[in-house]
This record gives sequence, structure tokens and C-alpha cells, in this order.
Amino acid sequence: MTEAARTPHDPAEETAIAPSHGRDLFSKFDALIQEREDLLATGVRDPFSVVMEKVLSPTQAIIKGKETILLGTYNYMGMTFDPDVVEAGRQALTDFGSGTTGSRVLNGTYQGHRECEEALKEFYGTKYAMVFSTGYQANLGLMSTIAGKEDYIILDADSHASIYDGCALGNAQIVRFRHNNVEDLDKRLGRLPAEGGRLVVLEGVYSMLGDIAPLKEMVAVAKKHGAMIAVDEAHGMGFFGENGRGVFEEAGVEADVDFVIGTFSKSVGTVGGFIVSNHPKFEVLRLVCRPYVFTASLPPSVVATAATSIRKLMHAADKRAHLWENSRKLHKGLRDLGFNIATAEAESAIIAILLPDQEATVRMWQGLLEQGVYVNMARPPATPAGMYLLRCSLCAEHSSEQVDQILAMFAAAGRATGCIA
Ligand SMILES: Cc1ncc(COP(=O)(O)O)c(C=O)c1O
Repeated sequence: MTEAARTPHDPAEETAIAPSHGRDLFSKFDALIQEREDLLATGVRDPFSVVMEKVLSPTQAIIKGKETILLGTYNYMGMTFDPDVVEAGRQALTDFGSGTTGSRVLNGTYQGHRECEEALKEFYGTKYAMVFSTGYQANLGLMSTIAGKEDYIILDADSHASIYDGCALGNAQIVRFRHNNVEDLDKRLGRLPAEGGRLVVLEGVYSMLGDIAPLKEMVAVAKKHGAMIAVDEAHGMGFFGENGRGVFEEAGVEADVDFVIGTFSKSVGTVGGFIVSNHPKFEVLRLVCRPYVFTASLPPSVVATAATSIRKLMHAADKRAHLWENSRKLHKGLRDLGFNIATAEAESAIIAILLPDQEATVRMWQGLLEQGVYVNMARPPATPAGMYLLRCSLCAEHSSEQVDQILAMFAAAGRATGCIA
């Protein structure tokens, strides 16, 4: 058979790839495949295969030929189209080429990677900063490297997948505590044997529900038990705290946090990850951290855009204030319309709407898209406690009028789908 004659559903091909003996390793996905086929058979659009045909600005794109307001990106500070950021990327592409083709520890550290680390040190006021290729890898790296098999990692049950995966990659003993529950953290730390190191891992903002951690109390408890502390500020960087460092800055616990993990894929507006720290031995991680060593470094254009964006975020107080206005306005508007929101108040730039099941969630999601607003749909296993959610993420570049339009679209889609009265 020629390549051209092949189709993905060609039965002859299926026979060719099916194992002649033993179980088909894909059979474990049968229930998921069936669930998805059943859902799509009801005529709804697939919420997990949206294509942005054109992106007009941080808050607008063309989806299926229709101009759509973006309310489901992590572009909290709207930096993706900042002229200085775009120009820095363009210049680096011209000067340094399209990629480094190497690891940070070999040929993959360019001047731009160092400058990006300098920008992070300045932004966070720390002695050390290490740039990874993604935030996912930064978490993989920290969790799997610093805690060995005699040590304990104590983490919130709702931790991000990259934190769990980092634990799975390493050898430490894992202890989970109930989400945002200070007493449970205290109790579990109190039960640990005296020997062995302890790392408590927290997140400033939990991205599924948009709730924030009680960091002041948690850090005090972790310190009482002699643990080191890592805080993932993926969803807090840019707009929490006086300097936009994150929830840990706002909570006033900067001096007690040993590591801050972050990403460039949200407020910074590009891709990449990092860890900052004041620990005097921090730099040794560059030699022993596998997700740093055994992967190619970020392209020069990406680190140039990240460094420029980070430096601009240091002076973005007006943007921060507008983002908070947007978030509070949307939260109140949605609550007044009768939607069930995960947090009583706007705690971050994420407003999560709880819906009863997958079908209602997809219908509402599609209704919103047809109206002209894109939000994220989230379902288990990404969500806690089997929840179905529509996640709205606000941007500092959303105008107040856009928030009004969004609320009108939620009202129309909510009534049309029966999700609100
Ligand atoms: C809390 C948290 N940590 C880490 C990451 C990973 O970031 P990245 O997109 O840079 O891999 C994410 C991404 O969604 C996140 O939500």
C-alpha cells in the first residue's frame, strides 16, 4: 500500500499494528475513547481541539472565522504583544539564530540566558536564578533532585501535575496534606521521624479553582517543623505583591521561602521556567538536575522576550491594578447572574465556574464560544474532587467594556443552556 492510500481508520493498518499476542497496550484508554466519542456524538464541539486561526491581541483571536474574546489564556499581564518584548525577540532571532541546539551545561548557554537569569534575580531580589526550558521541568528538577530517599516531600493534595511528576521521578517519600489545610500540614509534619530532610511544596495560586494558599500560616508551620519551603508562583507572578513577585511577597514571607518556582508561560508571556533562591549551594543544581542538564535550552529569541518582559513587569503597578479591577468585576457579575463560583470572592485572576457534569459544561462552553468568548474547560483528572469547571482567566489588557461584553455573553449562553435561571 502506498502512503497516500493510508487513512488513520484503515482496518488493514489496524491489523498490521495490533499485537499478535498479549494485550493491546492502548486498551486501557478504551473507556476514555468511548466517553469522548459519546460526547462528540451529541453534536457538541471538541473543547480540547480549538485552533486559534489568528491572534489579534492578548485578548482577541479568530476562532472558526469568528472574532472571539480570549478569557481562557494565562496571559495575565498581556505581555505577548508588548512592542518592546516582540522587538527583543525579533532582534535575538536575527543576531543569534533560531535555536541553541544544546543543553545549558554544554553549548546551550548564550549571553541571553545569563541576562534572563539576571533579570529574574533583580525581579525577585535573590542571589541565584536558574532558567529551565519549561516550568514543568523546573518542578521536575527541584522535586526529583534535592530530596533523596531518606527525605520527605510534603505537598498539598491539589498540587500541579508537574509537582507530582517531579516527586514520581525522584526517590523521596511523599506525604500529602488536605488542600490549603494548615492543621493537616502541621499534623503530618509532626508525625514524621526526626531523621531525614523535609521539603514543603506550596503554590501561591491554585490554578483550577483560582484560590490562594494561606502562605503566612503554612510557612510558619513548615518552619516550626524545620522544613525547607518551595512555593510555585506560576499563577501569582506579575500581579501579587508590591513588586509582582507573587502571593509569597504579598503574604510577607519572602525571607522564609527557600525556593520560588515559576514559569514564563503565564504573566511573562512566552515559554520557559525558573527557580530562584538564596541558598548558598543553589548553583550545584546546574550539575545534578536532570531536567536541566538533559534537554536543549530555550531559543535565544525566547530568553530575550522573557528578560524584556520580566524587566517591564517590575514597573507594572497600573496594569496590576487594572487586572484586579477586571477580576473583581467579573466575579461579582457572574455571581449576580447566578453562576456557582469556586471562591466566595475574586482571589486571583482565575474565576472558576462549577458545573454539575461534563455535558452541561461542554454545552455552556460551546454556547460561550458561539457568543464570541473563549474560556478553558477543565475536567477530571486535572480538577480536584471530580469537578467540571469553566475557567475564566482575566488579562490586564481586557478593557472594562470587554468585561461587560463577556458578562452579557455569559448571561445569554447561561440562559440558552439552562445553566442559570
Ligand atoms: C502551578 C503550575 N506549575 C507549573 C506549571 C508548568 O508551567 P509550564 O507551562 O512553564 O510548563 C504550570 C502550568 O500550567 C502550573 O499551573
